[in-house]
Amino acid sequence: MKGLILSGGKGTRLRPLTYTSAKQLVPVANKPVLFYAIETLVEAGIREIGIIVGDTKDEIKAAVGSGERWGIEITYIPQDAPLGLAHAVKISEDYLGQDRFVMYLGDNMIEESIRPLAEEFAAPETQYNCQILLKQVPNPESYGVAELDPDNQERVLRLVEKPREPQSDLALVGIYMFDKSIFEAVNAIEPSWRNELEITDAIQYLVDHGYYVYPKIVTGWWVDTGKQADMLEVNRLILERLDRKVEGVIDRDCVVSGKVVIAKTAEIINSVVRGPAIIGEHCRVVNSYIGPFTSINHHCTIADSEIEHSIILENSQVLDIHGRIEDSLIGRNVVVEKSPIKPKAYKLLLGDNSRVGILP
Ligand code: G1P
Repeated sequence: MKGLILSGGKGTRLRPLTYTSAKQLVPVANKPVLFYAIETLVEAGIREIGIIVGDTKDEIKAAVGSGERWGIEITYIPQDAPLGLAHAVKISEDYLGQDRFVMYLGDNMIEESIRPLAEEFAAPETQYNCQILLKQVPNPESYGVAELDPDNQERVLRLVEKPREPQSDLALVGIYMFDKSIFEAVNAIEPSWRNELEITDAIQYLVDHGYYVYPKIVTGWWVDTGKQADMLEVNRLILERLDRKVEGVIDRDCVVSGKVVIAKTAEIINSVVRGPAIIGEHCRVVNSYIGPFTSINHHCTIADSEIEHSIILENSQVLDIHGRIEDSLIGRNVVVEKSPIKPKAYKLLLGDNSRVGILP
């Protein structure tokens, strides 16, 4: 089986971070979201992965490379315009050929291994043409929603993309398994109101035309990382799974407790680090407090400040800030510092769509 990862898309809900970087490359516990997708497929036994790329293709290629580091072969498939998930399948027909495949939305993260499901779907005796993963959610209107037969939970009745009035709370997780019948479907459907070929409509086509779509409800966590709150949530979930590994230079005045990863070249001075937390290469943490659920990427400096439940991307600095920073997503090359110059005032240089919360 091959894998197909979708890594186009504009990431509008993560602006301003995504003005300069692909949403799939925002790190969770210091590793890009997209790498988790690749690793989930590799763990499921997949060795050939096609990655659909859009405007951010150069950056994605530079970060991911040929696949060598995972011992797999990666092929990049350019999508000229974001015309929908089913359109991505359409343009991948030559690459995918006749084989069954797993399609994975590159901004989704899932707790459980998909290996048992992938193995079952790949088996020659498998009767179904498509397997969808479903998850009970409190806000189904934000996703594709599946209605199952009340008398037979293994039968899909209907799939609707972001319905105003959802008929169930079962959201379509962004991981799908298909056989070649999906090409008939993606070539038959029409664009939706948002002018996209929806994968949800393509799967509905399979249901309507007598193909067998098998629904599998997942119980572990699933996060679609499109928004800041989701990024922080998944950062928390991943950090909880860390094994403690404290390297680097840590002076005698530090307290480092719990599940903490500190990189070899990091330096921690007169500070408290309370896990789960991760601090990347070449970071300097001085006279500071790093609290639970914080990921600090490489080459950052945190001095005379307190940070908790936050993600800080590489090469940023937080200097001499009095209030504690919480629930924050700070981009690359950012400086947050106490302003030493009079007049005593906030001095901001913020990109479009930035949000800043200031203490009363
Ligand atoms: C897409 C799918 C939707 C699915 C979701 C999962 O939505 O269209 O059916 O539930 O991914 O992440 P989008 O992210 O394009 O809004």
